[in-house]
Amino acid sequence: MADLTEQVVNLARRRGFVFPSSEIYGGFRSTYDYGPLGVLLKRNVMEAWWRSMVQERHDIVGLDSAILMAPKVWEASGHLATFTDPMVDCRSCKSRWREDKLEESLDAEGRRRCPGCGSRDLTESRPFHLMFKTNVGPVDDAGSVAYLRPETAQGIFINFANVAQTSRKKPPFGVAQQGKSFRNEITPGNFIFRTREFEQMEMEYFVPPDEGPKWFEYWCGARLAWYTGLGIPADKLRLRHHDPQELSHYSAGTADVEFDYPWGWGELEGIANRTNYDLTQHATFSGQKLEWFDQASGERYVPHVIEPAAGVGRSMMAFMLAAYSEDEVGGELRTVLRLHPRLAPIKVAVLPLSKKETLVPTAHRVLKLLQPHLMCDYDETQSIGRRYRRQDEAGTPWCVTVDFDSLEDQAVTVRDRDTLVQDRIPITDLVSELTRRLR
Ligand code: GAP
Repeated sequence: MADLTEQVVNLARRRGFVFPSSEIYGGFRSTYDYGPLGVLLKRNVMEAWWRSMVQERHDIVGLDSAILMAPKVWEASGHLATFTDPMVDCRSCKSRWREDKLEESLDAEGRRRCPGCGSRDLTESRPFHLMFKTNVGPVDDAGSVAYLRPETAQGIFINFANVAQTSRKKPPFGVAQQGKSFRNEITPGNFIFRTREFEQMEMEYFVPPDEGPKWFEYWCGARLAWYTGLGIPADKLRLRHHDPQELSHYSAGTADVEFDYPWGWGELEGIANRTNYDLTQHATFSGQKLEWFDQASGERYVPHVIEPAAGVGRSMMAFMLAAYSEDEVGGELRTVLRLHPRLAPIKVAVLPLSKKETLVPTAHRVLKLLQPHLMCDYDETQSIGRRYRRQDEAGTPWCVTVDFDSLEDQAVTVRDRDTLVQDRIPITDLVSELTRRLR
């Protein structure tokens, strides 16, 4: 197989998963738009996460906080002071690099050189701030400065008291949030792996102080299981614990869930033991009490926090890379995305065997029957073989074919993307059979 990343990027472009943003203007700085199939896959990834974090648990509730927050939030969190990457400029070609990128292009003597032009005329490294600054309101001065959030987590910490009071949860309990974050990355790249605008799925789990290590272990296991449960082979995943010098300023321990990307192991998600750092900082900067009073024991404490923090784009890319395969069907090469049915953008495609007027009304009836329950596609152009191939490439797990016998027996053929088995199923049983298969 040719380079897997290239295959997946081509498929994503060709089939409308991901487009370069502002493409008609030549693209814009590693930003991407999610097309008709991409937006469905992205929503399904987020929905699967929300289901496992919020819907199927009684100890976690949801939140959707604002992207723009009081600038003090970023002072308290430490981002204003420390959210930087070391940056190096190339004096020859004027390109800019994150310092660790230079390690990948050392010369024969192990000296640093520009990954772009090969020059060794580089500046010393200096900190580069990753937060995007903007101004809020009609006056563009220091008093109107605000920041686009670089993580969703802080919106959760500043709402700790609101959520604890209104949801009547007590530690251990969690608050989950999904949404856009922004980082002015020096070297974005690898398609949607590292971008400047991206979506996060973060959950802050508030626990009694002595229970931090126990819940850290728990969430490491639970998060690995989430990815394997959605079809990523276990040997493509690993947990990597951070060395002490690698830890973020807030962390007493971090482990990354890493995926075996075609360019090497890379972070999918970070799980951090943030201790009571954030709540303590926000209590200090806001003057508000952010603590928990345990009525049973009479104990008052600032909860510790375990945070599993995942990226939607990265997960989506890992799911696509793990699902991509090529095989031969009937002597023809086919590309197939073996996505978990829950993640597949389209669950079922309704395909009348021919465009003949006699078949179309029944095919439309089948489509209308399925649409309230499952995301469907309808395709009546070209040969049935071609239409199967198109659905295989999009990752559609089931194709429903309406043929001339359907008019007589009121049944259709259901073809399985992976096994290629075709079952004859009465139209009246279709919804229950397909929703059963999806479960
Ligand atoms: N609140 C903790 C936090 O934000 P992080 O490790 O910086 O931790 C969490 O980010 C996840 O967000 C990462 O594992 C990754 O999946 C995703 N992420 C971070 N920066 C990203 C970027 N520039 N592009 C795409 N995804 C990113």
